[in-house]
Amino acid sequence: MSETITIRMLEPVDAAAFQAFRLCALLDRPEAFGSSYDEEKDEPLGEVAQRLGARPNAVFGAFAEGQLVGIAGFARNPRLKQKHKGLLWGVHVDRQWRGQGLGRKLTLAVIEHARQHVDTLHATVMAENVTARNLYLALGFVVFGVEKDALREGGRSYTDELLRLDFQ
Ligand SMILES: CC(C)(COP(=O)(O)OP(=O)(O)OC[C@H]1O[C@@H](n2cnc3c(N)ncnc32)[C@H](O)[C@@H]1OP(=O)(O)O)[C@@H](O)C(=O)NCCC(=O)NCCS
Repeated sequence: MSETITIRMLEPVDAAAFQAFRLCALLDRPEAFGSSYDEEKDEPLGEVAQRLGARPNAVFGAFAEGQLVGIAGFARNPRLKQKHKGLLWGVHVDRQWRGQGLGRKLTLAVIEHARQHVDTLHATVMAENVTARNLYLALGFVVFGVEKDALREGGRSYTDELLRLDFQ
């Protein structure tokens, strides 16, 4: 890889680039995400920007030559009794940039950020998504549950694994 990669937290000003990338991800791998292209495609940019700035939630982005080529999100549970828990969501790397460590760097950025705000980080991965599953397990996540028929997409049913990474 010759280009310099920068990993940084996205800000409201990144809303348009984030939304475009996120929509591509939802089209690229609809079965890998709980959300859908149709649910997000008309979201006003202002709302996207607001969400990007709503700390402690955060989305980290990988930039190559100024272009967004990967993302990973963190959301703290908003419920009073559950705000010790966070969620890793929306991990996605542009096809051309896969296998070069970006997914790992982005997930690590979320983990380091999450460590400062929650005691445990949850994630959901489709059981057959070997790449993402290997990545999360290599970073210390453990499987604590299996949800059959968690998602239905394209006439198929998918099983999810529920993962957690405890910080204490
Ligand atoms: C999952 C994803 C983000 C990984 O991104 P990436 O930049 O290719 O991953 P990395 O290069 O950082 O690899 C990290 C780890 O993933 C695993 N991995 C990467 N490529 C793999 C492959 N082809 N097969 C199996 N495991 C693989 C390895 O454990 C690797 O660790 P290593 O470097 O010690 O070998 C990327 O494949 C992607 O965007 N997939 C589509 C969207 C998706 O499935 N998102 C996850 C939703 S839960």
